Amino acid sequence: MDRSRSAMRPLVLPIFLLLSLGIFSPAHAGNLIERGKKIAQEGNGLPGSTACMECHRLHGGGMPLIGSPRIAGQTKTYIEHEILGVKAGTRYAPIMAGVVNNLSQKDIRAVAAWYASVRTPKLPDVSPYDPSLVALGKRIALKGRWKKNVPACVLCHGPEGRGIPPHFPYIKGQNKGYILRQLISFAFLKRADDPQGLMRGIARRLSQKERQAVAEYFASLPPPPADGQPDPPSSRKASP
Ligand code: HEC
Ligand code: HEC
Repeated sequence: MDRSRSAMRPLVLPIFLLLSLGIFSPAHAGNLIERGKKIAQEGNGLPGSTACMECHRLHGGGMPLIGSPRIAGQTKTYIEHEILGVKAGTRYAPIMAGVVNNLSQKDIRAVAAWYASVRTPKLPDVSPYDPSLVALGKRIALKGRWKKNVPACVLCHGPEGRGIPPHFPYIKGQNKGYILRQLISFAFLKRADDPQGLMRGIARRLSQKERQAVAEYFASLPPPPADGQPDPPSSRKASP
């Protein structure tokens, strides 16, 4: 009894310190999300800061009209990685660059926690989906184009493109202008933040029509509702 109590003693001080710094506090995760929400709404208060919601909306639905991506429910890891990529210049994103440059590491963690925690329905795309492109896109997404050494997209992006946390983003329900632009960006090597150049190789080997087709297919699906949960049966089908 006495021996175990003295064995515990060395732990008391560090635990006390962590508690007093708020690192172990149960409210910590909530505070981070709240701070992230504030940045999404108002920016971080430094000169030149811009609220994320001006382009991504407060709940992360994005703006299909200007090709701004939906980011609701992407993982914290992925969101942080993309912002750091924009800051480092490995991800070509001129509109975003000016916005994220003055974010601190903590701001980035906070805003990533906010957007990872929210869910929002898909916003209408700019134009109706072309059924023949959707059908071609679906074949490529599910089976790949092995003659061209293009694997099925779902191998890395999960069933129907719902994402495989934490590194592989969801692409189902993303807006089509954005998906197509990213594929072009990877193909022509402007976006170079993908591990081992995996996406660059794939995007380059697809023809422009095939890039359009996968963009139409994934955009025509509903976004993933919540981590690990199946879609409601009514929204399973692509609704062109
Ligand atoms: C002025 C408009 C604008 C503002 C403000 C803005 N973004 Fe963006 N964001 C964009 C655009 C456009 C893209 C797509 C960039 C590209 O074309 O590669 C993007 C891309 C992203 C991505 C990558 C999404 C993905 O699926 O890979 C993340 C994450 C992101 N923004 C987060 C943020 C956060 C967090 C803020 C606020 C601190 C913010 N953005 C503010 C326009 C904006
Ligand atoms: C070998 C794995 C792999 C395969 C196969 C793959 N991807 Fe990706 N893809 C990735 C990774 C990893 C990323 C994230 C890169 C990063 O971290 O910026 C990505 C990112 C993307 C993005 C950008 C998402 C965003 O929110 O910005 C799109 C669009 C995309 N992939 C489409 C496709 C399509 C379409 C296919 C099939 C033709 C495909 N991918 C096949 C690994 C893969």
